[in-house]
Parts: sequence; C-alpha cells; structure tokens
Amino acid sequence: MKLAEFDTWMRSEADAVESALQAWVPVDAPAGLGLAMRYGMLDGGKRVRPLLVLAAAQAVHGLREAAMRAACAVELIHAYSLVHDDMPCMDNDVLRRGKPTVHVQYGEAQAMLAGDAMQALAFEVLTPDDSAAMPSALQARLCSLLARSAGHAGMAGGQAIDLASIGRPLDEHALRDMHHRKTGALLQASVLMGAACGNASAAQWAALADYGDALGLAFQVVDDILDVTQASATLGKTAGKDLDNNKPTYVTVLGLDAARRHATELRDKAQSALARSGLPDAAWLSLLADKVVERES
Ligand code: IPE
Ligand code: IPE
Ligand code: MG
Ligand code: MG
Ligand code: MG
Repeated sequence: MKLAEFDTWMRSEADAVESALQAWVPVDAPAGLGLAMRYGMLDGGKRVRPLLVLAAAQAVHGLREAAMRAACAVELIHAYSLVHDDMPCMDNDVLRRGKPTVHVQYGEAQAMLAGDAMQALAFEVLTPDDSAAMPSALQARLCSLLARSAGHAGMAGGQAIDLASIGRPLDEHALRDMHHRKTGALLQASVLMGAACGNASAAQWAALADYGDALGLAFQVVDDILDVTQASATLGKTAGKDLDNNKPTYVTVLGLDAARRHATELRDKAQSALARSGLPDAAWLSLLADKVVERES
C-alpha cells in the first residue's frame, strides 16, 4: 500500500515539476537559445533531486511554492551540469536521457550557452519579485545552499577533479572526495533546500544533512555500477563510458561486488540518519533512499 502511494506521489510531483519547468524555461530566448535550453531540460530525467526537495519540504511541513521553486532550481543546475558534462571537452557523450546530447543537436557553442543560461535561470527562479510566497530571507538561504553545492567546492570542483583524474588510480579516500563534490553536494543540497522551506530544529537539520550526505554519495556509487551493468537503452546514456574514458570509479577501485555492498551500507547510513531526525512524515525520504540504491537507470 505504502509503495503504491509512493509511486502515485512520485508521478504526481514529477508532473508538477515538469509543468513548472515548462512555464519557466523560455521558448523565446534569442537566436534559438531557448530551444536548446528546453531540449536539455524538459521531458526526460528521473527528477530525483526535485523529488528529494519536495519530500524534505513535506517532512518539515514547508512552504509549497518555495519548495516547488527550489525543486526546479536544483533540477536546472543538475541539467546544466549534464549538458556540460557531455560536451567533447568533458566526457564526450552523444546520448543523454534517450536523445542525442545538446551539443550534438545544437552545436557546442549553443550547448555551452544553454548550460550557462540554465544556471542563471535557477537563481532567477529562487528570487521572485513577489516575496509573499517566498520571504527574502528564505530566498537568500536557498540561493546560498544551491550556489555552494554547485560551485568550486561542490559540483564544478568535483568535475575538475574528475577530469584531472583520467587514467590515474585514485585511492578510495580521493574517489570519495570527488564523488561527494561532483554529485553528492547537489543531492545533499536538495534535501537541505527542502528542509529550509519549513522549520527544522538544529538536530533535525543535522540529521537531514547526514541523510543527504550518505544518499548523495550512494547515488554516484550506483551511477558507477550501472555504467558497467546496464545497457545504453536502459540508461538512456552510453553504457561503458567510464571505462572508455579511463575514469577511476567505485567499480574500478573497489570491484563490482564491494561497490554494491558499499552502496547498501550508504543506504543504511542514510536510513539511520533519517530515523535520528525523528521526523514523523519522512516516509517518502526513506523510500527515495531505497530507490536511489535499487534503481536500474
Ligand atoms: C546523472 O544523474 C549524473 C550524475 C550526477 C550521476 P541522474 O541519474 O539523476 O540523471 P537524470 O537526471 O535522471 O537524467
Ligand atoms: C556526472 O558524473 C556528474 C555531474 C556533475 C554531471 P558522470 O559523468 O558519471 O555522469 P553521467 O554518467 O555522464 O550521467
Ligand atoms: Mg562526467
Ligand atoms: Mg558523464
Ligand atoms: Mg556516470
């Protein structure tokens, strides 16, 4: 029963995020830029980060409009990071979310600009002129959480380490640091941005931060595993890309079985942090942690 309810909740929230993004990502940006942005943003992706924002907001009875804006802002940053990640100067990938990548479809310069504009749009979405739905202190808090997770100390920094590590055998500590930054930071920020939309106590905030930290790392461990265990058609992106690109991953460093065990340990860690939060309405966060580890794409 709970699982069926969870599926219904996920579908309806993913639809709500899709509609909001449809409205926010402009069609009419100059010289076809809007088309490239919409191509990279709409109609694809699992929307895990928005679901985490919305589940965390629900767990703290947060403001709905603020949470929806936060959910879309995080997904804008994530989708921009994918557009750039796929470019020839980075992972050089031609397939994403089951379609040709943005640079294949629209050219490299337009892909770069689409990513730039999606990043800026994330912060536009977080700072509406009408502050009734979103008090200015909350706007600032959400911008701060998102900026810190996306920038030099988070995603962009992690991506820099990723590119600097090609062909180099990283130890587990260095690999963990890279994965925490390039993927974990934005997932953790998703949870905390949802929590910021309501009133979490300091202890609840700390527990949710631990939950997001473990779940964020688990997400990239599983991404590394799926790269070797799934087909491109299931993933909607090129399978076997990490080996092709000579990237150190949890599979190359620990081996497949140990990587799988580690993902399960991280899920357990996320679940105990969530239990520690004592939040009574955290069922969706708990089921999302299971889903992150059990997913097949
Ligand atoms: C892929 O993220 C890139 C990583 C950070 C591991 P997702 O697996 O969430 O990709 P989409 O959004 O569903 O396409
Ligand atoms: C991506 O890591 C992390 C990002 C910040 C985009 P990957 O390069 O492994 O992601 P995929 O496998 O291409 O989705
Ligand atoms: Mg990459
Ligand atoms: Mg990649
Ligand atoms: Mg990958």
